[in-house]
Amino acid sequence: MYNPLVQQTQTINRDLSIADTRPYALGYTKREFSRLELQGALLHELTEDVLRCAGIGPGMRVLDIGCGVGDVSILAGKLVGPKGLVLGIDRSADAIDIADRRATEAGQCYWTRFATAELDTFYCDELFDAVIGRLILMYLPDPAATLRRLARFLRPGGVVAFQELAMPLARSVPEGPLFSQCRDWIVGTIERAGFETDMGGKLPMTFAAAGLPAPQMNFAGIIGGGPDSLIYNYIAETVRSLLPAAERVGVTAAAEVEIDTLAERLRGEAVERQACFMPATFVGAWATTAM
Ligand SMILES: C[S@@+](CC[C@H](N)C(=O)[O-])C[C@H]1O[C@@H](n2cnc3c(N)ncnc32)[C@H](O)[C@@H]1O
Repeated sequence: MYNPLVQQTQTINRDLSIADTRPYALGYTKREFSRLELQGALLHELTEDVLRCAGIGPGMRVLDIGCGVGDVSILAGKLVGPKGLVLGIDRSADAIDIADRRATEAGQCYWTRFATAELDTFYCDELFDAVIGRLILMYLPDPAATLRRLARFLRPGGVVAFQELAMPLARSVPEGPLFSQCRDWIVGTIERAGFETDMGGKLPMTFAAAGLPAPQMNFAGIIGGGPDSLIYNYIAETVRSLLPAAERVGVTAAAEVEIDTLAERLRGEAVERQACFMPATFVGAWATTAM
């Protein structure tokens, strides 16, 4: 179905900033797209909670920035329903193709739409009721500047809602050497590649620097243990996606990681120690702009 809003975002491209030359740390492999889907499943309720608290509901028009393969957009699409509109944007055309297919499979193809776009060049001359995103601000060179720019696409009294990682809080109880090693590889790679490991904690100062009101916040995390948890796969697939970047920035090497057995070794460690793995903790933050 023709959608003038999406059409416009695909055709109008106004560059307002200097290009970010840092290679994206997680890459764009098929395996990374599957990892995003697994992460989306693990985070589903936690993200839905943030969106509901922010007031995302029926009939709203929502812009999801850095949408990846569409998990947050499709979740927002469920909340806004067929009388609303969600536009997910991402720089990866391959991710956008997958997101598009998944929205169609979810029965949302008429109101959950996607477009390939760089956030700092995205332009649209219609207004949204909400700008949302998950795990995106941490990858931006100047998240406050991008937020400030994108907030211009919000109607007065619009909503801004984000969910970002507080990576340094990742832990295992009791401590597990392999878990700690994975955490250090992941945090070290993100840090040395020039991205933000504590974006969750920096959300209030980022909102302030973007000229937004102080946000309301919540805190949540992905947690797992025992023989059947998906958490081992999630950690190992995150290490797998980061491995090229980890090698590039000198954090570790494939021979040390032994990626193909990593998930099973993590499972073994957790089961042997009856451990609780807490690999990813998230801050949700939302605010309503002035009328
Ligand atoms: C970790 S993924 C998160 C995807 C999605 N928000 C989710 O939670 O499943 C980050 C996404 O941000 C996108 N991204 C990063 N920087 C971007 C930029 N400057 N413009 C557009 N997309 C960007 C990447 O292509 C990637 O798909």
